[in-house]
Amino acid sequence: MTAVPATHREVRLAVRPRPGEELRAEHFEVAEAPVPVPGPGQVLVRNRVMSVTAVMRTLMNGDADLFVPPFAEGEPLWGLAVGEVVAAPDRPRVGGRVGAGRPTGPGDTSGPFGGSGGTGGPFDTGGGSGGPVDAGREAGGLRPGGRGGESWGAQGRVTEGPPTGHPRSADPGPGVGWAGGPPSGVPGAPDGGADPPRPGDLIEHRFGWREYAVVDSAEAHRLDPVALPDPAAYLSQGPSAWMGVVRGADVRPDDTVFVTGAAGGVGSLAGQIARLRGAKRVIGSTGSPDKADRLLAELGYDAVVVRGAGPIEDQLREAAPDGLDAVFDNVGGEQLRAALAVARRGARFAVVGALSAQAGGGTAAPVQIDTVALTDRGITLRGIALYDHMDVIPEWTAVFARGLREGTLSFPHVRLQGIGQAPRALRELLAGRHVGTVLVDL
Ligand SMILES: NC(=O)c1ccc[n+]([C@@H]2O[C@H](COP(=O)([O-])OP(=O)(O)OC[C@H]3O[C@@H](n4cnc5c(N)ncnc54)[C@H](OP(=O)(O)O)[C@@H]3O)[C@@H](O)[C@H]2O)c1
Repeated sequence: MTAVPATHREVRLAVRPRPGEELRAEHFEVAEAPVPVPGPGQVLVRNRVMSVTAVMRTLMNGDADLFVPPFAEGEPLWGLAVGEVVAAPDRPRVGGRVGAGRPTGPGDTSGPFGGSGGTGGPFDTGGGSGGPVDAGREAGGLRPGGRGGESWGAQGRVTEGPPTGHPRSADPGPGVGWAGGPPSGVPGAPDGGADPPRPGDLIEHRFGWREYAVVDSAEAHRLDPVALPDPAAYLSQGPSAWMGVVRGADVRPDDTVFVTGAAGGVGSLAGQIARLRGAKRVIGSTGSPDKADRLLAELGYDAVVVRGAGPIEDQLREAAPDGLDAVFDNVGGEQLRAALAVARRGARFAVVGALSAQAGGGTAAPVQIDTVALTDRGITLRGIALYDHMDVIPEWTAVFARGLREGTLSFPHVRLQGIGQAPRALRELLAGRHVGTVLVDL
């Protein structure tokens, strides 16, 4: 049994980057701080894994007009994380409700995250060499995606949101899902105090970027240990990808589909989902020839256009000589314009993100669109956000679980080790260094 330490590490925003400024280590501070003490109605969580996402760069801007408040200078950042409850003042442990091998009290690390043994979960490709996107190929502190012997799941997910009650805290936005928790009736919704978490429970919450977190019981989302094979899988961007493909672009059998930002957390799943829905041809966009090769070899894309390798429209016409039926747009800008130019009559567009502006710290993504083309060709352009479609989450979890089991879906991701690597994880994500979701094991 390991006692809860007196101090832990957290990552703070040391100084705001200017809009457009490339992130550097100096923008972050990895600080030692007292482990917070849970009060009534709260639990203490030992965080185990967190994700970084592109919207975090936007939240570093002080003036971003977003659905949640920006990160505050001198304060810890926040974002989705999965961890284990190690203390719950209101709920002393009374026995294992969720599974065997639970910790026996605060600070006990022998629970599921502390487990060892086994030869790897479904994300392993064999020989312990990593998940479908093998982080082992990366230098410096990354490790394969598989986690030996663990088998976990979630009934739902929580999402990043403001650490305290913000006027718009129930109004989450792109890239962060929902802030105030899923609506009642969605599996994984907060218990609302009826059945708050106990020590040993695994929960998903929005206080990443720190090793220990105090979480309000009402906002803690208990994870189901049987649905998905690895807690990291609950940090996937799958719900957004599923939403965009199924509801936004309404991908149909025999469609030719274009996914922009195809190598990202959302795009790397959106392409796979489009194929699952029967798409005939799936085209992606990315930022380098190396990543293009990986999209073709590892993620089933039929063709890839590369940012910076000539006009996107020219590349797209070559990749889709008969035009596009459906578009999943994560990028905006030139790529959205090019896709509209190449769209067939009746094409359906899901506008999901705006990486062309966001990756540089921008908060607006104006695009000049030829509306004559929209009307002439009956094109539908639909902005779509997860907070309006939270019911896709259990739907996606079931699809994801089945796809992983049957080998029809993979979870592309990389993992960096230790909270000290979290700033680097975000910098590398924005620099386009990785394929798939970028996670940090805490
Ligand atoms: N609507 C919603 O509810 C919702 C939900 C989740 C996410 N989102 C949004 O969806 C988008 C994708 O999210 P994600 O998590 O998958 O992000 P992501 O792809 O992981 O973001 C990082 C990637 O952005 C790309 N990038 C960097 N600079 C770029 C530029 N100038 N132009 C185009 N791409 C650039 C790089 O990929 P390459 O090197 O491959 O180009 C980099 O790897 C984001 O805008 C996010 O906010 C929306």
